[in-house]
Amino acid sequence: MIGTDGTLGPSEEARMKVLLVNGSPHTEGCTYTALREVEGRLNVEGIATEYFQIGTKPVYGCIACHSCNNSDYCALTEDRCNDLIKMAEQSDGFIFGSPVYYSGPNGALCAILDRAFYAGGRAFFQKPGAVVVSCRRGGATAAFDRLNKYLMISQMPVVSSQYWNIIHGNSPEETRQDLEGLQIMRTLGKNMAWLLKSLANSPRPEQEPWIGTNFIR
Ligand SMILES: Cc1cc2nc3c(=O)[nH]c(=O)nc-3n(C[C@H](O)[C@H](O)[C@H](O)COP(=O)(O)O)c2cc1C
Repeated sequence: MIGTDGTLGPSEEARMKVLLVNGSPHTEGCTYTALREVEGRLNVEGIATEYFQIGTKPVYGCIACHSCNNSDYCALTEDRCNDLIKMAEQSDGFIFGSPVYYSGPNGALCAILDRAFYAGGRAFFQKPGAVVVSCRRGGATAAFDRLNKYLMISQMPVVSSQYWNIIHGNSPEETRQDLEGLQIMRTLGKNMAWLLKSLANSPRPEQEPWIGTNFIR
């Protein structure tokens, strides 16, 4: 994997890894079908992949305790948020997938990402990422925009495709019939691999000390 200084020897390229986060409770549903298509292209390009499945167990929302100001992990330890942070630490890039629920991402995914990015943001910082969303019919761009906010506040180069990363279907069988959606996913995988390889050995930009203002002071 790429070091925190952005360095990676050319022979290590094949060891770069993308974490595929499936935010759907259906571990092999429509979102997964889209992620698999991205994964196939990543693997062809020599990039390793790993899944984080959100599953069906309860996920806590952030309780704004700010314990993570003094830690790299979330103080709520009864769900898998800290597992996600630890997997992110070992990953060079990310694809976040979600079904569309009422024109937004799945609530459980937002709950875990609020905490993973707030507590463990350094595990995602400046690493390439992309979002894919799966819907039956509508609301996909709103969900897509919402999830991209996590990436953009973390200075993650956002990987794009030939269209917004949306796939349509209410079942995996229907999803596989969205041929354009599947092609968008393959193009995304190819572009993610291209960006990862291009960024290997490229030093990351230095950061200015943060200037935090609340508009009034
Ligand atoms: C609670 C809920 C809300 C949904 N809201 C929408 C919606 O706003 N727009 C839409 O097109 N599909 C909606 N759907 C359908 C799913 O987004 C769609 O079936 C998706 O592809 C399922 O992906 P999955 O199999 O990975 O869970 C909703 C499904 C559920 C369970």
